[in-house]
Amino acid sequence: MNSPITRIGGKKILRKTICEHFPESASFERYIEVFGGAGWLLFYKDKHANLEVYNDADGELVNLMRCIKYHAGELQRELDGYCNSREFFEDVRAQTDVRGFTDIQRAARYFLRMKLSFGADMQSYGCSAKNLSNAVEYFTDVQRRLLSSAVVIEHKDFENLIKVYDRPTAFFYCDPPYHTTEKYYDIKFTESDHIRLRDTLSTIEGKFLLSYNDDDFVRDLYKDFNIALVERNNNLSSGKFKELIITNY
Ligand SMILES: C[S@@+](CC[C@H](N)C(=O)[O-])C[C@H]1O[C@@H](n2cnc3c(N)ncnc32)[C@H](O)[C@@H]1O
Repeated sequence: MNSPITRIGGKKILRKTICEHFPESASFERYIEVFGGAGWLLFYKDKHANLEVYNDADGELVNLMRCIKYHAGELQRELDGYCNSREFFEDVRAQTDVRGFTDIQRAARYFLRMKLSFGADMQSYGCSAKNLSNAVEYFTDVQRRLLSSAVVIEHKDFENLIKVYDRPTAFFYCDPPYHTTEKYYDIKFTESDHIRLRDTLSTIEGKFLLSYNDDDFVRDLYKDFNIALVERNNNLSSGKFKELIITNY
């Protein structure tokens, strides 16, 4: 199934290719999506493993996923009262840290900010007619997916998450902010975080697959692991994007 949200860096186009590089499903019992984002790989299959974990360090995004999982109907009703207007978008954008909203209100406002923004950048009003009702009705399907296999929704920094869930039977799918494009996310990700991720993944007992942009810094960081190059069409031009799939198996 599709993800319920659009988010910068989402792996909608690459999900099939990335999934083909996953280890044999019989070889792992826990599937952990460390940098969850829109969760395109999680939603690509009905079930990856007996234990599935979605994680992201962005608390607003995690709150949205949690509300879809537990309060899809309430979130749908809340969104019924909202509209597509520049004024509404600007107000929501300006009020991200304002206190006093319920979790469902926060989730609805975050979802709409994402939907109404240009290219899901969350910053500029998209000026387009959106059919929000289809997206909102879809929450019920997503809720079923999240509840049917009891997906655990976590809100942690990657290092602690990986240490907590690591086992020989764990498989971590890691899709960090791409090197040099980190600024598109609300959560800061620095050069030292890229190194910290490599150091964390170097010590695990389980398996990992990492998707990254093709860049000398990344290639050097992971020179001791298996690196495969994949290409995808660039939506905005006739060129191709080169991406790396890095594994420890
Ligand atoms: C490239 S996106 C993931 C896209 C996702 N695979 C998808 O298909 O939509 C990277 C995500 O990492 C999250 N993130 C940034 N820093 C993090 C950290 N220290 N720990 C965990 N998640 C983090 C961001 O909030 C963002 O949602």
